Amino acid sequence: MFYKGEIIQIIEVESYNMKKQSLLLIVTLTILFSACGDNVYNTGKYDGIDQKVDSLLSLMTLEEKIGQLTLYTSDMDQTGAFLRPEYIEDIKTGSVGALFNAYGAEFTRELQEMAVNETRLGIPLLFGYDVIHGHRTIFPVPLAEASSWDMDMIKLTAEIAAREAASEGLHWTFAPMVDISKDPRWGRVVEGSGEDAFLGSKIAAARVHGFQGDDLSDEYTLAATVKHFAAYGAAQAGRDYHSVDMSDRELREVHLPPFKAAIEAGAVSIMTAFNDLNGIPATASTYLFQDILRDEWNFEGFVVTDYTAIMELLYHGVAKDAHHASKLAMDAGIDMSMQDGFYQKTLVDLVEDGRVSESQIDRAVKYVLRVKFQLGLFDDPFRYSSVERQEVEIMKPENLAIARDMARKSIVLLKNDDQVLPIKENIKTIAVIGPMADNQRDLLGSWSAAGDWSQSVSLLDGLRNNNPDVTFIYAEGTGIDDESRSGFNEAVAAARQADMVILALGEAYWMSGEAASRSDINLPGAQEELAKEVYSAGKPTVAVLMNGRPLTINWLDDNIPAILETWFLGTTAGDAISDVLFGEYNPSGKLPMTFPRNVGQIPIHYNMRNTGRPFDADSKYTTKYLDVPNEPLYVFGHGLSYTEFDYSPISLSSKTMQVSDSLEVSITVRNIGEVAGEEVVQLYLRDKVASVSRPVRELKGFQKIHLNPGESTEVVFTITNEELSFYRIDMSYGSEPGEFSVFIGGNSRDTQTAEFELIE
Ligand code: NOJ
Repeated sequence: MFYKGEIIQIIEVESYNMKKQSLLLIVTLTILFSACGDNVYNTGKYDGIDQKVDSLLSLMTLEEKIGQLTLYTSDMDQTGAFLRPEYIEDIKTGSVGALFNAYGAEFTRELQEMAVNETRLGIPLLFGYDVIHGHRTIFPVPLAEASSWDMDMIKLTAEIAAREAASEGLHWTFAPMVDISKDPRWGRVVEGSGEDAFLGSKIAAARVHGFQGDDLSDEYTLAATVKHFAAYGAAQAGRDYHSVDMSDRELREVHLPPFKAAIEAGAVSIMTAFNDLNGIPATASTYLFQDILRDEWNFEGFVVTDYTAIMELLYHGVAKDAHHASKLAMDAGIDMSMQDGFYQKTLVDLVEDGRVSESQIDRAVKYVLRVKFQLGLFDDPFRYSSVERQEVEIMKPENLAIARDMARKSIVLLKNDDQVLPIKENIKTIAVIGPMADNQRDLLGSWSAAGDWSQSVSLLDGLRNNNPDVTFIYAEGTGIDDESRSGFNEAVAAARQADMVILALGEAYWMSGEAASRSDINLPGAQEELAKEVYSAGKPTVAVLMNGRPLTINWLDDNIPAILETWFLGTTAGDAISDVLFGEYNPSGKLPMTFPRNVGQIPIHYNMRNTGRPFDADSKYTTKYLDVPNEPLYVFGHGLSYTEFDYSPISLSSKTMQVSDSLEVSITVRNIGEVAGEEVVQLYLRDKVASVSRPVRELKGFQKIHLNPGESTEVVFTITNEELSFYRIDMSYGSEPGEFSVFIGGNSRDTQTAEFELIE
């Protein structure tokens, strides 16, 4: 039996074989179309696919085309996932081309059958979902994974997420989120890779490679969506959805590089940002979507809006009605509308009255159809909905083992005075105190996709399961977000009975993520009070933090000897934290985001400019605060180990470098401690004199190495003109001759330094 997708291909084949004239006409028109230069469609790169797309397009009515530009959500109630009746009708009439939040082999198959069997042309639906850090097996939140600086692992967890999701009928993930942010008040920092464009770009590429693999038609991969374009992470005052106002230099140097990296890695879709950028809502920005994305970067995938973002053009105050909003979005090159149905409601009218041309619609439809063909949906629209694969792939033991390993690598040891950690063998009784200790729900973070929190391993369970010879006494002490002190006495009594204390503190999962900005980033509720009370019991104490953003934890830093930042580590959190606490794994994570001392320091980041009045403690009129140091609590790149690494002086292959040449920068790193460990060796550069003031240091390379005790290795970085390039005074991109400093170390502050000169 044929499904209609096959029939289209048969029509097409027939036209190839029998109707040479019309084929010739289609090809001629196609060539003419691309020769007009108004898009990058039909570049010849998608051999075969573009002809099929053109052939299909020639059969489509305007309404069917608009259907391909429409994305709706599925819903959920106590009985499970369901689709609103009006969307079912839309599927059957071909008025919707994509759905999100619908997953499960059977459910997606049922919906796909409607599209394929009941519509005139049988064009398959595209199923999307926010598979952000795992699908059923939940990996650490993206900010945590970024702390591993381990690109192979980051790629691997995305690959597993894709395998699980793609077996449940999903084709398309709304990830990676690559928004750079220097503001921990913004809740969505949990979804990103922190404050740095270089690290963020590497991670963006690793995630795209992980999700998409080498072949989109492989039924174990997902199409990736890089989001949110652009500058969403720079919302004023860290308040979600707020306006962004920034220079083009900052935009291009800091916020755009991870998008470009994701696109170069092959991401086939991109999502618009909710915010306005310099007064122009991103979803109506020709500058972002046409000039930069299509013209400068030659992006060849499709653009999807964020949730109801075309409708929100009304609230932004740039559109007077739905038709106007859709026209603005269409003119900006936005291909698919998410959930507001604005394209569905307005585009026929807009084409009929000439405000939008049918060729604009065709262009958008082609971008969407091309991805459907690339995914192999026209070969077999049900290939991703496999009950058998679903049973094999979901949460298989290998996935859980990798999740545990990724979780261990994501932990950052912020402080470890007197080597309180790892926990020594003579410790027999440990009090585990705090609202994050016996907690499963929050471990999954704000995007837990199809993850089931009841399957996650709490800290308490992880400790008990992995350390049968130790007695753990548990006391909650207080809730995450309440002011209750009624549990304090029990907590202090538990501490008194124990040889040491683990304080498990942090934020609830809903305190970070979308629409979860905080103006106060202290530990919520009475948790700091609890810490003070418990600390007064006088036992060696370790703080284990679980949270979705950098927090202001000055009291903990001043008083508690050891602090572990574990973020939200996902399904296997408790096991992974136990591994680190007991020294089964030596922590190697490094902060991808600065920890401020207070919110007044925000935005705070390591790669600031020097200013004309650099800090001088003895001179009042230099850049500083009266009430807090300029220095953060923990710098970017910071993270301790149970061993210590010694860095030799830097050696350079030459003191000068030609623009067309490269320079080798090397350093010997030695493990001078007692245990094996991993270190992230970080390279920073500074352009000392340039036509525009350059940051005091910028990350331009890193390598993660493993060293046994006493072992050393030479780490070599190659610097090319690319690492020295920036947006010059005239906004051209390139380097300028002159002196550079190079810094190498285990964080962004404590480094070895050398100098070299770039010559033309
Ligand atoms: C809104 C969020 O901003 C976006 O990241 C997400 O992909 C969509 N909702 C769909 O869930």
